[in-house]
Order: sequence, then C-alpha cells, then structure tokens
Amino acid sequence: MKLDETQVEAVVTAVKESKKYGDTAETTIRALAVDALHRYKKPKQAIKAVRAQLHSIMAPYLGDPDYEAAKRAVTAVFATNDAAQSKMVCRDILGTHLSTRERLPLLDRFYREIFAVTGQPASLLDIACGLNPLAFPWMGLPTSTQFYAYDIHEPRIDFLNHYFRAQGLAPLAKVQDVAHVFPQETADVALFLKEMPRFTRNYGDLGRPLLQALNVRWLVVSYPEVSTHGGRNLTHRYREFMGQLTDGLPWTTTEILFDGELVFCIEKSEDKP
Ligand SMILES: C[S@@+](CC[C@H](N)C(=O)[O-])C[C@H]1O[C@@H](n2cnc3c(N)ncnc32)[C@H](O)[C@@H]1O
Repeated sequence: MKLDETQVEAVVTAVKESKKYGDTAETTIRALAVDALHRYKKPKQAIKAVRAQLHSIMAPYLGDPDYEAAKRAVTAVFATNDAAQSKMVCRDILGTHLSTRERLPLLDRFYREIFAVTGQPASLLDIACGLNPLAFPWMGLPTSTQFYAYDIHEPRIDFLNHYFRAQGLAPLAKVQDVAHVFPQETADVALFLKEMPRFTRNYGDLGRPLLQALNVRWLVVSYPEVSTHGGRNLTHRYREFMGQLTDGLPWTTTEILFDGELVFCIEKSEDKP
C-alpha cells in the first residue's frame, strides 16, 4: 500500500514535538510511523500506536538525568583534574537510570571480572548503551580505547560525547537504531547489557542476527537477575534463552553470575555466511 507522505510527516512531527518521546532519533520515529500508517488509517491512531511502541523501545520509565545540568557538572568536575571527584560525578549520573543504578554496587568487580575472561579490549562497542559509558572510570582501560556507543536517544548521545571529550576519549557515541542498521565497526568486545529481553519483545527474532553480524571477537550479553516489576528470579529463564539464541553456533560461552546481573561472555568463531 502506498502511503500519503504528508500523513507520515504529520505523525513524525507530532511525535517529535511530544515531550516524552521527542528525544528519539527521527529515523526510528519515521520507521514506526510508516508501519503504524499501514495498520491504522487515521493519523491520530497511528500517533498513539507509535507512542505505545516508543514507550517499550525507549523505556523512559527507567530514568534520565537533566542532560544540560549533567553536561555542566561534567565540565566543572573534569576541569578540577581530580579523578576521584570526577568518578563521583559519573557515579551520580549513572544513578539516574535504573539499569546503571542497579549496577553501581557491582562496578568495582564488574568489568574486572568480564575483562579477565575476554582480555582487556583496545576497542569496545556499547550497544543500546543508555548511560553505561559513564562506567569507563571503573573499566581500567586507557583513554586510547576506541569506545563506540549506540543509542536512539539524541540528548543522551550528545551528552555522552560531551563526557567522552572531558574524559579524554574520542567522541564515538552515535545516534543509531541498531535494529535498522547493525553496528559496522570492528572491535574486540561488544557489550549488549540488560537489553536483549526488551529487544526481543520489540523486534522479534532480531537478536541472533544482530549478534552474528557484529564484527567483534567477544560478545558480552547480560540480563537482570530479577524482573523490574515484581522481583521474580529470572536466572534460569535467561540462561535457557541465551542457549537458544546461540544454539548451533560454534561459539564458546562463559557465564558470570553477579548479584543482580547475569552475564554471558561469548567468544565468537568465524561463523559468517
Ligand atoms: C535498558 S536501557 C540501557 C541499558 C544499558 N545497556 C545498561 O545496561 O546500562 C536500553 C537502552 O537501549 C536503547 N535502545 C532501545 N532500542 C534501541 C535500538 N533499536 N537502537 C539503539 N538503541 C536502542 C534505549 O534508548 C535505552 O537507552
């Protein structure tokens, strides 16, 4: 069915102007708008459908800092050259989003134990990164590290590049919808932390092709140990799910169970078609 371009534009503009979802990458909104207008005739219904999908994709309920205030705090603290103070500011900002807030008690061990399995990476992809790149001071890596970060939240990516520059890293954070364009960069390790269940809910069976397409030696995929709503223990379910995702692939998996987060370090072999 051929769509009326003005209707697509009207839906994109309405969502882009909304307070809650306007920070989303326009390419993501446009793709959802086209899909919704195939299903609903009325733009009003299509806008509602796009907003509902964005609620699931962007998960705004997980929290955000005030990005402009966070930029100012980063600028001010890095100007003091006091690494301990800068780390405290990173910690505060990590605490504004549920995924990274839950990881705060683990940070001293988290990357040390993961990199003990993968080796210390010289290059890293952080896919659907949220605020996780601010955990760099806990990674024990030099500022020569090529740290690519991908998300569809525009102010978050702008803020992350601001932080990367302050930290002395190259500003390699990108607004990229990884469900539409898989990351193309080559790296030692790819992080895909606490997002696979939502990704599967939003995009169906795209998780396995995404993992296969990544040009990395190691995949680090993690899951929350308990559900966000309700506190059920999900370790068995996600262990089984991860097994299904990699079933039949010549990859080697090492599991690390942290208190609150289940991590799989997967060494990829040459399996590309
Ligand atoms: C649960 S949060 C962040 C999790 C983060 N990896 C962590 O563990 O700290 C998920 C993030 O994925 C992003 N996201 C969702 N779908 C995406 C997509 N298709 N492409 C890129 N980013 C996406 C959201 O904007 C959000 O910031």
